[in-house]
Formats: sequence, structure tokens, C-alpha cells
Amino acid sequence: MDGTFNENDISRIVEADRAHVWHHLSQHKPYETTDPRIIVEGKGMRVWDQHGKEHIDAVAGGVWTVNVGYGRESIANAVRDQLIKLNFFGGTAGSIPGSIFSEQLIAKMPGMSRVYFASSGSEANEKGFKMVRQIAQKRYGGKKYKILYRERDYHGGTIATMAAGGQEERNAHYGPFPDGFVMVPHCLEYRKHEQDGAPDENYGVWAANQIEKVILEEGPDTVGALCLEPVTAGGGVITPPDGYWERVQEICTQYNILLHIDEVVCGVGRTGTWFGYQHYGIKPDIVTMAKGVASGYAAISCTVTTEAVFEMFKDDASDPLNYFRDISTFGGCTAGPAAAIENMAIIERENLLDNTNAMGAYMLDQLSALQDKHAAIGQVRGKGLFLGAELVADRTTREPAVEKMVGAVVADCMQQGVVIGATNRSLPGKNNTLCFSPALIATKDDIDQIVAAVDGAIGRVFG
Ligand SMILES: Cc1ncc(COP(=O)(O)O)c(C=O)c1O
Repeated sequence: MDGTFNENDISRIVEADRAHVWHHLSQHKPYETTDPRIIVEGKGMRVWDQHGKEHIDAVAGGVWTVNVGYGRESIANAVRDQLIKLNFFGGTAGSIPGSIFSEQLIAKMPGMSRVYFASSGSEANEKGFKMVRQIAQKRYGGKKYKILYRERDYHGGTIATMAAGGQEERNAHYGPFPDGFVMVPHCLEYRKHEQDGAPDENYGVWAANQIEKVILEEGPDTVGALCLEPVTAGGGVITPPDGYWERVQEICTQYNILLHIDEVVCGVGRTGTWFGYQHYGIKPDIVTMAKGVASGYAAISCTVTTEAVFEMFKDDASDPLNYFRDISTFGGCTAGPAAAIENMAIIERENLLDNTNAMGAYMLDQLSALQDKHAAIGQVRGKGLFLGAELVADRTTREPAVEKMVGAVVADCMQQGVVIGATNRSLPGKNNTLCFSPALIATKDDIDQIVAAVDGAIGRVFG
């Protein structure tokens, strides 16, 4: 390679990728004999690979991100205009798009007040953890420092967010992790038979009470925050059982525990409301978001807090270390908020929340119809255009399907030109949920195409 290839010379692009790019979440051995996939172009719900093959994307960029779909010129133009005017200035200063986006965002989040910008979901969560730790130092003599997280939830790939990660396989080989992160049990009703003492009735309240149990074991005066996904994403698209969130909220209030809601996946429309927590009447103290904030047109994340949390960082100006002494260089990039403003405007202009609710209900119905046809589908669940289908080896015992077969369904769909996702190498023995999060612009025809591919794939893989 002499470095002088042009983008149309695909074989040289593939060669450069094979030689130098380290792909995310990928074992590279197979690339010695097969080509890595290069995604070249996207428009609406569809992407094209290096061979010109068209795929409908049922997972919004592979990782539930491209909420408004590909090829949005209005976002590209907003970003371009802003970059020419001012591309960057460190976040100690404000910016025009940062101010405008913050005001618009907070208008969608009654009860919330302040927006802290950074550039990834992991970072947004770490900022939240740092706030909790600093509040513990300032207010509680360092005692209320523990952060509770839930089995099967995921909050990022950094060491501290993995310490708060409830996915054993994801975390394998990366320890030791820092102290002060404590796991609470999951709330997946479909698998309650695996949880000691889970009742037939009122499972949601019981599952929330398991959190209280951990708080009492740890000592309520040592627990600073509870960090949860409103609907668990990579841990298996887990919608909360009835009564769960009401009880979680009560518990947090009773024990003076900050509620940190991770909206990195659910945020900005995915579940049919602006934020997932808004389905459940939750009053969070900290909300984090990233992927859908600008639909992948620019890197941006936000850690949003109540005014009460913010106030704690300025109530004693005589202490020189009192304020939030944190920075994220790329939180000062203006492309993020410029893209986010237009992203939100598109969702409003095109009524995409309504579409998400309507198409989400349609997709849930269509997937449920597949469940009647294929014994391998144990359960279908979801909220809005955020859905999962849990595959089983035996419907009666709910024994999970083996990961290899789940992977074969994903691969078969890919062959058919349909990109779907699945829990993978995250939960020992439980990487058995197919994941769907098409862009919020999905139509019935798009969904029919996706569901037909899944139907064919499950039929071929499971017989
Ligand atoms: C719920 C949740 N939180 C946090 C993250 C981490 O986001 P990022 O990869 O942008 O750091 C992810 C990523 O998938 C996620 O699903």
C-alpha cells in the first residue's frame, strides 16, 4: 500500500482495514480468510456494503443509534454551518448550539435542569458516578459512596462503568474493578423461575424489594445512588414488570438515594416517549443519554441533573474544591449540539414519537405472530421501536437457546439483507435474545421485511 488509494478502490479499502483497523467487539481471526464488512453508504432505513449489497437496518446503526435514519441533509447542513462558524471551544465556556439544545432538552424533561456535555455514553455515566462520589464527600463525610447497579444492565466500556456492569461475560478479563459498586438482581419476569423466592403474583414489587434488601444489607447510609436502565438494552431488552418502577421510586425516596437513569439507548424517542423513564412516572436525579441524541451524526452525550443536584456543587463557594472539577475535551465540540437540535426538530416535524408508538405496536404484533409459529421464540417484549425476542431450546422449561444458534439467525438475516442484533458474549448461557431497534421512521413495509427475514431464519436454523 502506498497510501494513495481513492475511496472507489474498494479492494484496497478492505486491505487497509484488514491490515490496520481493530474492530469493536470482534474476533479478528476470521478476517484472515474472509473480508471484513465495510459499510459504505446509508439512506433512510437502508445501508449498502462494499459489494453494493443493500441491507435494511433493524438496529439503527448496529447499536441502536441512528434514530432518525441515514442521509439526513438537514443535520449535515446544520453541523457544517456550525463548524464553519465555530467548531470548538473548551466547555468552561458556553456555545450557541449548546445553550439552545440545553433549553430545548430540558423543556422535554420536566423536573430536570442542567446539562453536562461529553462525548459518549460511558463518559456520561462516569460523570454521574463522579457527581455521586463528590456529593458523598461533601454531604455525608464520604460515607454514602456506593452505587448500586442491576444484573444484566450495561453502562459502558470504561473500567468504572464496567464496575457498574451487570453482564458477567462482558466484564470477564478486565478486572479488578474499583470498589463501591454493588449489584442488585434483575427484573426479567420471564426468568423469575431462576430467582429464589420470586412469587407468582406481583413480581414487579418483589423485584424492586430485592433492591431494598441489598440497600439494607449494605447499610442505607452507605448507598449514594441507584443506576438503572429504564428498559434494559444489551442485557436482553428487558421491559420492567408492573409495579416495579413505582416501588423503586419509593425506595430511593425512603433511603435518600439518588436515582440515576441511563437513557443512553432509550433516550430521545426510542421507546415512543422522549425518554424511557417517562413511561413510568419516575422522578430521576441524574439522567444520562448519548446514542440517539444526535442519531450518530456527531458524538455527543449529556449528563442531565436536577437543580437540587446542581446546587450541591455551588452551595459552599468558600471551599476551593467544591465545584464539579471535571472536564471532557470533546464536550466542547459544537457539532454535537448543532446535530442534536436538528435531530430533535426532525422528530417533532415528522411526528416520529407517534410513528414509534404505532410501528412499535405493529412490530410487537408481528413478532408475537411469529411466536405462535416457532416454538423457539419463548417471549417477545419491548416498548416502542425497541423490541426483543428471547429464543429458547425448550419452551416449557425456558432453557435458553445456545448462542451459536442465535448467532446463526442473525447471520441468516444478514444473508437476506436484513441487519438485526442479538445479545452476545454478555450473559453466560443467556445470550439468547434477538434485538430490534429500527429507526423511528420505520414503515409497515420495512417491518414486514424485517419480520419475514426473521421468520425464514428461525425456520432454517431451528427447523
Ligand atoms: C445502556 C447503555 N449505557 C451506556 C452505554 C455506553 O455508551 P458508549 O458506547 O457511547 O460509551 C451503552 C452502549 O451500548 C448502553 O447500551
